[in-house]
Amino acid sequence: MIKNWPNPPDNGRVKTVNQMGFMFVQLSTLSQRFIEYATQSTSPVIDIGCAYGVAVLPILDAESTCPVVALDTCQTHLDELLDRVPDNKKTQITTIRATFPEEFSFPDNYFQAIHIAYVLQFFKGEQLKAGLIKCFNSLKPGGKLFLYTASIYFNFWRDQFLSQYEKKSAAGVEFPGEIENQHQYLPAQFDEAKQVLPIFTHVFKLDDLVKIVSSTGFKVEVAEYDDIQGVSGYESEGKGMISIVAEKPAFRL
Ligand SMILES: C[S@@+](CC[C@H](N)C(=O)[O-])C[C@H]1O[C@@H](n2cnc3c(N)ncnc32)[C@H](O)[C@@H]1O
Repeated sequence: MIKNWPNPPDNGRVKTVNQMGFMFVQLSTLSQRFIEYATQSTSPVIDIGCAYGVAVLPILDAESTCPVVALDTCQTHLDELLDRVPDNKKTQITTIRATFPEEFSFPDNYFQAIHIAYVLQFFKGEQLKAGLIKCFNSLKPGGKLFLYTASIYFNFWRDQFLSQYEKKSAAGVEFPGEIENQHQYLPAQFDEAKQVLPIFTHVFKLDDLVKIVSSTGFKVEVAEYDDIQGVSGYESEGKGMISIVAEKPAFRL
């Protein structure tokens, strides 16, 4: 595991420099699955919202040959990541400063795998749908999308927003987990986190996110709740996060 992150990890998290939350030092099972899959690939893979490279550097550490694209909206994060890439691996990685999905532009059928962890919460529903379409098109048939994002059962969302989510859902609101001002809900122990969290956030029930992903054309292979490990105060009875692995089918029926 890389130890010299640009800021010392605090409670398992490294601050971003652009108020986009934290990078999480302990990899989720979902991110480990992505790394394992990428390591066996010879075709390109991409990590969208890679921050300082927690899920990218282990692919380069392994004896893999797959070309890795690390994309983030923040150049400082990418510079820090590149600083940590060994010289003999520098040609294996391409860093791209771009905002997903608006500036995401790759050929169709290009990637073997796409990883997006702790990023979907920044997207309004329509942006999410547009992003999933771009992911679908840029994946090779048989390629896989790995998603990890916050659920409505994350501890304080469950306590403060679940009933609103369910009411909105029952009323037919398409994205009942869009929260326009999360700062008004964050409990006192998140006061420091408020400095690095945007106002808007978006949380999901597992089935609702699975429906959105499936409606893009993906075949969902893994869909489960999970908790962030290594951060105290984030325990959510095993349901605080959502992991999805979805395949772009090799053949369309
Ligand atoms: C919460 S951090 C997650 C870091 C990392 N993926 C992890 O697993 O810990 C979010 C990262 O996504 C980047 N990001 C946020 N919105 C983005 C967007 N629309 N396009 C590209 N990167 C984005 C931020 O700059 C930040 O580095």
